[in-house]
Amino acid sequence: MTKHKIKIAPSLLSADFSKLGEEIKLCEQGCADIIHVDVMDGHFVPNITIGPMIVKAIRPLTKLPISCHLMITDPDKYIQQFKEAGADLISVHTEGAVHVHRTLYLIKDLGLKAGLALNPATPLDFAFEAAEYVDFILLMSVNPGFGGQKFIPSFLKRAEKLRNFIDGNGLGHVEIEVDGGVKIDNVADVVRAGANMIVCGSGLFKGNFLDNIASLRKNAEQGRNL
Ligand code: DX5
Ligand code: ZN
Repeated sequence: MTKHKIKIAPSLLSADFSKLGEEIKLCEQGCADIIHVDVMDGHFVPNITIGPMIVKAIRPLTKLPISCHLMITDPDKYIQQFKEAGADLISVHTEGAVHVHRTLYLIKDLGLKAGLALNPATPLDFAFEAAEYVDFILLMSVNPGFGGQKFIPSFLKRAEKLRNFIDGNGLGHVEIEVDGGVKIDNVADVVRAGANMIVCGSGLFKGNFLDNIASLRKNAEQGRNL
């Protein structure tokens, strides 16, 4: 279980890119907490999405924090550009950052919140080693690259272990983010396991966004009491 506030982060990957401005307004109307932007380079993951130019374009449209999830190799090269574009949080994959502490310091030295992301099969030891240098740890619950994939259930045990580790080591301020396959009907389990930053793409943008986000939040809050 998490003591942290539930933060809902719609992933723009499932939004309609021809009307991003309206989709972001919808996120605000639905009381989202964070805008999640998936950055893919066609190298670290088999898909290409968007970069700092789009972050810069959407920055004036919202006061919500923008979280850039970098699924790219060699993230160090681009951290500054994402900061200048208006990112508030940046997460980098431990599998793509060879000198991960350097990367995390780079993010924090720019005054941004730093997250370390782990693919579903990456040993949690990577998170344990870096936990004291981050603001949040992103545990992927799908293999990164695409929206609309199926939730990998091993996430639940991993999140519990990680939550116990961080709470047991005086690092209770570190938040756990979940990303991939989160829906209205599994979000309570995800929160009960210890996540509080909830990324959700297809589960929100498919169908009625405002109804979906209200149900997602309600079930997530219930997960805190399970
Ligand atoms: C996947 C991305 C996710 C994705 C989640 O690589 O990191 O943020 O958009 O989409 P859903 O919620 O549809 O799994
Ligand atoms: Zn993501």
